[in-house]
Amino acid sequence: MDNEQFRDGMRRLTAGVNIITTIDGDGIRYGLTATAVCSLTTEPPALIACVNLNSSISRFIEHSAVFAVNVLTDTHRALAEAFAGRAGLAREDRFTVGSWMTSLTGAPVLSDAAASFECRLLEARPFGTHLILIGDVVKTHLGSSTDSPLLYGNGAFKGSRPLMADLARDHQASRSATA
Ligand SMILES: Cc1cc2nc3c(=O)[nH]c(=O)nc-3n(C[C@H](O)[C@H](O)[C@H](O)COP(=O)(O)O)c2cc1C
Repeated sequence: MDNEQFRDGMRRLTAGVNIITTIDGDGIRYGLTATAVCSLTTEPPALIACVNLNSSISRFIEHSAVFAVNVLTDTHRALAEAFAGRAGLAREDRFTVGSWMTSLTGAPVLSDAAASFECRLLEARPFGTHLILIGDVVKTHLGSSTDSPLLYGNGAFKGSRPLMADLARDHQASRSATA
């Protein structure tokens, strides 16, 4: 098995982008950007999420036994960058980006997410570098936005709303093509 080929293949697996959140016993909020989320069963309503064991959120999810999955739209790229640690923000400071509220479980819920799923942790199983979480969905919040989902593939965010940087690059490319 060629690991590099595996990684290249996985880069082509375009996925929806989410922010997984939790809260610790002192009320400190944690969150990270994650594509490793999928539906498990509707009866009972349950989902799976995978977080790196080195991520700051992983041990707090195990302690609090609650987490929320917030599904992003293409208006949320800055949020996705911030919760991936790319804006130099950590822990509570990440929550200065976006509008957050708490609901049933106490795990932070993004006010304008496409959807948010509040979960109680049913099972956490380590596998290699990651922790596989099974969440019992106790509340689903449905957003009213009709914005397109935020996707990630081939190392880049994709949405129907191009970033200025994308526009500038496309413009440059089309100028070079016609030169
Ligand atoms: C598009 C995207 C998807 C990601 N998906 C995951 C994921 O599914 N699980 C995970 O543990 N980290 C994922 N990451 C990495 C974390 O968001 C990143 O390492 C984050 O900084 C970890 O939080 P921490 O800095 O608080 O430890 C992803 C990053 C990006 C940009």
